[in-house]
Amino acid sequence: MALLKIDEVTKVYEGKVTRRALNQLSFEVEKGEFLAVMGPSGSGKTTLLNVISTIDSLTSGEITIDGVDPHALTPDELALFRRRELGFVFQDFNLLQMLTVEENLVLPLTLDYIKTDEMARRVLELAKRLGLTPFLHKRPNELSGGEAQRTAIGRALIHKPTIILADEPTGNLDSKTSREVLSLLSRVSNEENATIVMVTHDPIAASYCDRVLFIKDGEFFNEIYSDERQQTFYQRILNVLSLLGGNVNDLSATRLP
Ligand SMILES: Nc1ncnc2c1ncn2[C@@H]1O[C@H](COP(=O)(O)OP(=O)(O)OP(=O)(O)O)[C@@H](O)[C@H]1O
Ligand SMILES: [Mg+2]
Repeated sequence: MALLKIDEVTKVYEGKVTRRALNQLSFEVEKGEFLAVMGPSGSGKTTLLNVISTIDSLTSGEITIDGVDPHALTPDELALFRRRELGFVFQDFNLLQMLTVEENLVLPLTLDYIKTDEMARRVLELAKRLGLTPFLHKRPNELSGGEAQRTAIGRALIHKPTIILADEPTGNLDSKTSREVLSLLSRVSNEENATIVMVTHDPIAASYCDRVLFIKDGEFFNEIYSDERQQTFYQRILNVLSLLGGNVNDLSATRLP
């Protein structure tokens, strides 16, 4: 069974100008899949993450995560659902500056009355896997971009969410650090069967995924699945992007993987 189902989802922003950000979009994501979502600027990528996470309401259609429609939950149920089932990773890391790496990591657990020794155990295990052990007592402003993003990924993983939503997680990282973060996400997806939906402009980042979904004007445009060789997958992604058109600048930073 698909873990995430997007069924005929439409999102219209009403205002002086009405924007149809998503238009009858349907797709499914399997458990353990690492999915990239690409599309020109303004095509509805962030809106898609926002309706999945219920930051935004739906105009029509249905979304289910592990069989649950988060938009049908009561506010209390929803708060719990978001905290337990969802993990977020953003472009600008969103770490709390006054907390240490360790405190940032443990934050999602403190809200859930998890025992202190269990919290400590999970932090140490995760820090080891993410290469964050030497930084546990540092504050975010003392970290490199990659260390900060690894901390943000750790915070998204620590409560073992059903699904991880990432919006341009490598947008502020140099190419080497991006690669480290992407390998990490890909490893997490393989080893823990974590389901990840990652929005990205970067075809290299997308080439780390199992599948790339392309959207245009809020509608399904195309999708391609990875093959054994990352390099050929990358080339196929570039081919679809050239058909997709849109903001040419999105491609100007293209490097070979
Ligand atoms: N809160 C909002 N109110 C009104 N319109 C919005 C709102 N959020 C997004 N939009 C509009 O919806 C469309 C889709 O925006 P969205 O942010 O999802 O695009 P995107 O694909 O994430 O773009 P980018 O690559 O630039 O981040 C755009 O036309 C945008 O102007
Ligand atoms: Mg966006």
